[in-house]
Amino acid sequence: MIYARFVFPSLLDFAMKYEELTNLRAKMIPAARGVVLEVGIGSGLNLPFYSSSVTKLYALEPSPELLTKARTRSSRAPFPIEWLNTAAELIHLPDSSVDTVVVTWSLCSMHDPGAALGEMNRVLRPDGRLIFIEHGLSPDAGVQSWQNRLTPVWRRLAGGCHLNRKMDDLIRSAGFSIATLEAAYIPGPRPLTYTYAGTGTRT
Ligand SMILES: C[S@@+](CC[C@H](N)C(=O)[O-])C[C@H]1O[C@@H](n2cnc3c(N)ncnc32)[C@H](O)[C@@H]1O
Repeated sequence: MIYARFVFPSLLDFAMKYEELTNLRAKMIPAARGVVLEVGIGSGLNLPFYSSSVTKLYALEPSPELLTKARTRSSRAPFPIEWLNTAAELIHLPDSSVDTVVVTWSLCSMHDPGAALGEMNRVLRPDGRLIFIEHGLSPDAGVQSWQNRLTPVWRRLAGGCHLNRKMDDLIRSAGFSIATLEAAYIPGPRPLTYTYAGTGTRT
């Protein structure tokens, strides 16, 4: 409990500032526009990369400790922010009410990523866009077997994080078409770094 509440949020904030992740944030996040829902905003590390095309941000985060960190980081945001302190499996927003959904390195930790993606699909306008950056299942059999072996231990240490989720399949199964996808390893240990970065639309 002490680890989950006091140690892990600071460790996570530190780890998620890794330069390679920041480069991906800088590449993907400026495409968000209009009313944006960020799912699992964590400590708010995407906030500096939102452009002036964002008119409002719904910031969803179930961890009160991470939400407090994100709030601190949000003081200079040039758009209004509404904080949603809930899990993504049930999003308290109306159907077709947001222009962009952003989810970065969060689907790996969700209890039910299929249900959460279904909710993201429901709240997205028909012409809206999903922007995602996630790590997950490698296409290489050797790496996959390590991902499967490590996940039961890793998820206990890393806030429920699964190393072996096939993110593109999960996203498609929830009713999205993938419009762009770059999937590759970023520098670092291979079981942790196979990264899916892309955009999707409602089918
Ligand atoms: C590795 S962190 C990533 C944080 C942030 N998205 C980033 O890019 O730095 C995983 C995040 O997923 C959140 N999370 C875990 N389960 C969730 C759920 N069911 N719904 C929404 N967010 C969840 C965690 O609280 C945490 O903020």
